[in-house]
Formats: sequence, structure tokens, C-alpha cells
Amino acid sequence: MKFFLDTANLEQIREVASWGILDGVTTNPSLCSKENVAFDVLIKDICAAVPGPVSVECVSTVAEDIVKEAEKLAGISPNVVIKIPVCIEGLKATKILSAKGIRVNMTLIFSCSQALLAAKAGARYVSPFIGRLDDSSQEGMELIEEIVAMLENYGFPTEVIVASVRHPRHVVNAAMIGAHIATVPFAVMEKLVKHPLTDIGMEKFLKDWGKVKR
Ligand code: E4P
Repeated sequence: MKFFLDTANLEQIREVASWGILDGVTTNPSLCSKENVAFDVLIKDICAAVPGPVSVECVSTVAEDIVKEAEKLAGISPNVVIKIPVCIEGLKATKILSAKGIRVNMTLIFSCSQALLAAKAGARYVSPFIGRLDDSSQEGMELIEEIVAMLENYGFPTEVIVASVRHPRHVVNAAMIGAHIATVPFAVMEKLVKHPLTDIGMEKFLKDWGKVKR
């Protein structure tokens, strides 16, 4: 399973990159708005800090404009993957961009039919938002199961990015289903590593090491 960090915060990105397990980053306008850095500079710096794909979202709403915006964003770094919300104009733009070899991550996916159309349009990634589905009392993980099975049925090369992750169990369940990628907020990433029994065990081993005859 590949791990992406769901943030636009450079400190967090550099920290997790130093753990040796980071495969990429996903940003969105809300995440970028939290950083006090000019957008272009921010994306350039993120791309320099990550050894993998960095999803950057288009805000245009008409296919022609989305394509123009995407080409500009893709010019920032070869790492850039264009994030486009799933909608008719987005599908049209995805078809054009994927034909030009520009990778697209279709985002704000809340149904299997949206993921199917995104894959048919040539999206390299689809991002189903499971936490937001859970928030509206729908089982987000069921959507991951459906999308993974559907893509497998037809051999689509599209990868599933499990997005809107709220806790470690989301990541584990996604891994059990065989989802390709989880994009994880920093706080959840830390929780994936931590276990109180590990801390207690380490403390005891260190204490006992002090008693070992050397
Ligand atoms: C994914 O690419 C999105 O940036 C993200 O996972 C959205 O998560 P949220 O529902 O916590 O805002």
C-alpha cells in the first residue's frame, strides 16, 4: 500500500518524508488556504520535498479552462498530478489531459458510478472521500470495496486513493480490501505508528538494559 500525506504543510511533509515511508502528497484548496505561502511557491516547495506524486487541485469549472489551468500547474514540476472534481466538465478535461500524458486524480468521489466514469475518462487516480460518507451515516469503506472490485473487473490501470481518512482503522480496513493508496492526515499518520504497549515495552527494556552485566 502506498502512503500519501494529506496536507499542504511543508514541515509535516518533510517530517514524514524523513520516516522513509512517504510515497506522495495530496493537497486541496482548503489545505493550501491554511499555509501563509504564495500558491506557486508552496507547490514548488512541496514537490521538492516529496519523492512522488503531488496532487494539486484545479478550480476552473469549464473543461477548456480546466485544461489550461492543469497545463500551467503541470509545468510547475513533473511530480504534479492534476486533481479535478468529478463532474461532466471534469470528465471532458480528464479525457483531454490523460491523452496528453498529464496524470489526473479525480476527486470528491462519493459513488462507484463516478469512479467508473473517471476511470473510463482516463483518470490515473480516483479519490473516494470515506470520512465524509461516514459523517453522513453512510459506510465509506463499502464504497472502497465496490470501487476496487469494479476496477479489477475490467483491468483499469486507475489507482484508488482512499481519502478523507479520519483514523488508523480506516487505513487498516482499506489495506485489507487492497486499496492502492491511502492519503492520511499528519495526526493520523502519527497514530499509525504509536501503541502504548510499545512505549511501555521500550521503557522496560531500557530500564532492564541498565541492569545487564557488561
Ligand atoms: C483528498 O485528497 C482530500 O484532500 C482529503 O482527504 C479531504 O479530507 P477531509 O474530508 O478531511 O477534508
